[in-house]
Amino acid sequence: MPTYAFISPKGGVGKTTSSLIFATQLAKRGVGVSIIDADPNYPIQKWATGGYCPENVHVISNITENNIALNIREAAAIDPIVIVDLEGTAAKIVIHALQEA
Ligand SMILES: Nc1ncnc2c1ncn2[C@@H]1O[C@H](COP(=O)(O)OP(=O)(O)OP(=O)(O)O)[C@@H](O)[C@H]1O
Ligand SMILES: [Mg+2]
Repeated sequence: MPTYAFISPKGGVGKTTSSLIFATQLAKRGVGVSIIDADPNYPIQKWATGGYCPENVHVISNITENNIALNIREAAAIDPIVIVDLEGTAAKIVIHALQEA
């Protein structure tokens, strides 16, 4: 099933905002969504603990460049849509996410 990765080496361009809007709009329409929170600052995880996370949005954190591919595949086996929010850097983890998407 589709995996959408929000990628840009520049910070503050809207990757996390876009990830959250996309996920919550899909969830509103009844679609199960996994969000892979691949930013070490955990912005999506923090949002989810604020009580705004719909039941059918699953946030997966503790992501590293060594486990991101497996986490994306495991999420894709459960939910029809997987969204990956990445940190605003040009790091190797981005290549793994891009490869899975
Ligand atoms: N809670 C907030 N209140 C006001 N502005 C915000 C808030 N969160 C983010 N912004 C602003 O919205 C814009 C997009 O932020 P966002 O966090 O979505 O970007 P990003 O691409 O995910 O950044 P990063 O590369 O740091 O992860 C930025 O200009 C940011 O300063
Ligand atoms: Mg972000």
